[in-house]
Amino acid sequence: MSVKVAVFSAKPYDKKYIATALEAKKSEASDTPFELIFHDFALGLDTVPLARGATAVCVFVNDVLNAPVLEALHREGVRAVLLRCAGFNHVDLVTAEKLGFFVANVPSYSPEAVAEFSVALLQTLNRRTHRAYNRVREGNFALDGLLGTTLHGKTVGVVGTGRIGLAAARIFKGYGCRILAFDPYKSDDFIKENLGHYEDDLDTLLPQCDFVSLYCPLTKDTHHIINEHSLAKMKPGAMLVNTSRGGLISTKSVIAALKSRHLGGVALDVYEGEGGLFYNDHSGDIIDDDELMRLMTFPNVIVCGHQAFFTVEALTEIANVTLQNFTDYLLNHPCPNSLVRSHKLFVRRDSYPVRI
Ligand code: NAI
Repeated sequence: MSVKVAVFSAKPYDKKYIATALEAKKSEASDTPFELIFHDFALGLDTVPLARGATAVCVFVNDVLNAPVLEALHREGVRAVLLRCAGFNHVDLVTAEKLGFFVANVPSYSPEAVAEFSVALLQTLNRRTHRAYNRVREGNFALDGLLGTTLHGKTVGVVGTGRIGLAAARIFKGYGCRILAFDPYKSDDFIKENLGHYEDDLDTLLPQCDFVSLYCPLTKDTHHIINEHSLAKMKPGAMLVNTSRGGLISTKSVIAALKSRHLGGVALDVYEGEGGLFYNDHSGDIIDDDELMRLMTFPNVIVCGHQAFFTVEALTEIANVTLQNFTDYLLNHPCPNSLVRSHKLFVRRDSYPVRI
C-alpha cells in the first residue's frame, strides 16, 4: 500500500520538480511508494480536511501551521510536516512537539540563489534599472533620474551571516565593498575568509552603511528589527534590501522614512502581509492592502513576490531533500533536517544547530 502525502500550495513547477524527484526515488527498491495528492491552494484550517488519509502534509512559506491547524491535522491522522523551504517561522514548533509531529525543512537548497537575487535587487534599486527598462521601451533614452552610485568602496551592512548572508558577503567582497556584519552567533567562515568586520549591535552598524541587506530568520526577537528607531539610525539616503521574511520590517515605518526622504530606497522580495497575495495572480482583483499599494507607488521601491529562491537548482534540491526527509521518517532514520528537538529522529547538527 502506498503512503499518501497531501502537497499544498503546489504550483505547476512544484509538481514538475517533485514528480521528477519521485521518479528517481522509485528506482530505489527499498523505498515505500508515495502517493502525492497536489492541491494548488494553501493549507489553512478550512483546507485541513483535504489532508484526511495522508501521513504527511508538504507545505511552503505561506501555508498556515499554527496550533489550531496542527491540532486539526493530528485529528485527521497526519503525523509529519514536510517543509519545502528553509524558514520555519510559520510553524508552531511548540505545538508540533506536543503532538509528536515530525517536522523537517530544507535548510540549504541554494543559499547562493537567494544571495545573488538580493544583490541583483540592490543593484537594480541603486542603478535604477527597473526605471530604465520601462523608459527605453517608450523611446525615452534620457538619463535624468537614473543616477546611481558605484558599489565599489561602499559600506554594506549584512544582517545575519548564516548560509545566505555569508554567500552575499562573498559577492559584496567581489564588488570591492566594505562589509559590516551583525549576527548574535558569529560565523567562523566570515572571520576566516576575512569578509568584513562584525559590529556588536545593529545600532552601531546602521549609521555606517550605504546599503543594508537582511539575512536573518523571523523570530520573536527579529520581528520588526527595522522600525522607526532603526530607520532613524540609518545614514540619510541609505538603501534597504530584504529577501528574508517580511515581518523583519515595519512597513508603516518604512513608508514614513521614504516619505521623509531619509531612506534612499527599498527592495523587497518578501512582505509582512504577503500570505494570501503572493504566488497567485491578483491582476484582475482590487487589492485591499493599502500599505503594499502605497509602497509600490514610490519610484525608489521594488517589490518582488518572494522569488529569490526560484532557480532550477533550488527547485531540484528542494524536491530531492523533501522526499529524502520523508523517506527518513518512514524508515525511522535519524533526519538531519528534523526541527522538533524531542522527536526520536532529531539529530543534533553540531556544525549548524537549529536555533528556535
Ligand atoms: P541561517 O539559519 O543559515 O542563517 C540565519 C542567520 O541569522 C544565523 O546566523 C543567525 O544567527 C542569524 N540571526 C539570528 N537572529 C539574528 C538577529 N537578531 N540579527 C542578526 N542575525 C541574526 O538561514 P539562511 O539559510 O541564511 O536564511 C536566512 C533567511 O532567509 C531564512 O530564515 C528565510 O527566512 C529566508 N529565506 C528567504 C528565501 C526567499 O526566497 N526570499 C529563500 C530562503 C530563505
